[in-house]
Amino acid sequence: MYKIAVLPGDGTGTEQVQAGMRVLEAAQDKFGFKLDPVQYDLGGERYMRTGEVLPESVLKELKQFDAIFLGAIGHPDVKPGILEKGLLLKLRFELDLYINLRPVKLYPGVFTPVKDKGPEDIDFVVVRENTEGLYSGAGGFLRKGTPQEVAVQESVNTRFGVERCLRYAFDYCRAKRRRKKLTLCGKTNVLTYAFDLWERTFSEIGPAYPEVERDYAHVDAICMWMVKNPEWFDVIVTDNMFGDIITDLGAMIQGGMGIAAGGNLHPGRVSMFEPIGGSAPKYTGKGIINPMASICAGAMMLDFLGQTEASEKIEQAVAEICSTRLKSLNAGEMGYSTTEVSELVAERL
Ligand code: IPM
Ligand code: MN
Repeated sequence: MYKIAVLPGDGTGTEQVQAGMRVLEAAQDKFGFKLDPVQYDLGGERYMRTGEVLPESVLKELKQFDAIFLGAIGHPDVKPGILEKGLLLKLRFELDLYINLRPVKLYPGVFTPVKDKGPEDIDFVVVRENTEGLYSGAGGFLRKGTPQEVAVQESVNTRFGVERCLRYAFDYCRAKRRRKKLTLCGKTNVLTYAFDLWERTFSEIGPAYPEVERDYAHVDAICMWMVKNPEWFDVIVTDNMFGDIITDLGAMIQGGMGIAAGGNLHPGRVSMFEPIGGSAPKYTGKGIINPMASICAGAMMLDFLGQTEASEKIEQAVAEICSTRLKSLNAGEMGYSTTEVSELVAERL
């Protein structure tokens, strides 16, 4: 029995989690585990109604769950930053979810905008540091609103934070990947403090993982190669900001936001799983968004909880439905509604 906090959040988040839960519920009957879901109405609507983003009492409750299943955060009527910082980033920081794990995998038959590349070329995982870097909130304004205004936004990189992220990436690469190649994505030619620390730590702990081949690339070059030679990558480890950026690019080459999922992890503690796309206000309530991202996030959650077989079988069902039934992975072009897609996956399972 797993206690799951379900946070639909904003916009299409509600449709996403409904579809994801549909498949998780089908899995529990089949694989002999039970989910005990409790829903929370955090997000833009609650904020506008009550002024609350993430009450302390709710945060305390969330720590008692086995996992958190999140839809999306971001509301068109709420100033950018309030919900993102007050809810999503706050959960990542307060729960110390120091890894953001984002698989980039192209399933057979799925359209990729990258010409002449197929499933054998696009199959890697990004390990994004999730609690430091430019996301730490360090910095501030000086002389705000004047012509001499100064805005400073600092990237915080601690030896502790960098090392635990790199160790996770090495461990993951060794345990879960066949090729066992780990690429550090940085910018050592310009960010000579932050990525000096990353690179030094990378080469210091690397020898403890002799099975893992080490590689380094600058973030701009990675953007180029993710399009030109995605087959070069197996596991990419990087800081928070670069990880944010390159995983949107990754989502596009694997078929779009409709299928991109991620896990915010603290191994051994409550962790949070989500589609990586946003709340997509323009599609909200229409029943046309692709729920595969949420279904895949659910599969990642089961894997994290130790339900490996259920997780793999969901992934297989997703791959099969993508290849054989959906016309496209894009919202409104699937040939099925959001609910129908989740039914197809549940039935296949
Ligand atoms: C993501 C999102 C978030 C981020 C936003 C919504 C704060 O883009 O999960 O990638 O920047 O991390
Ligand atoms: Mn992002």
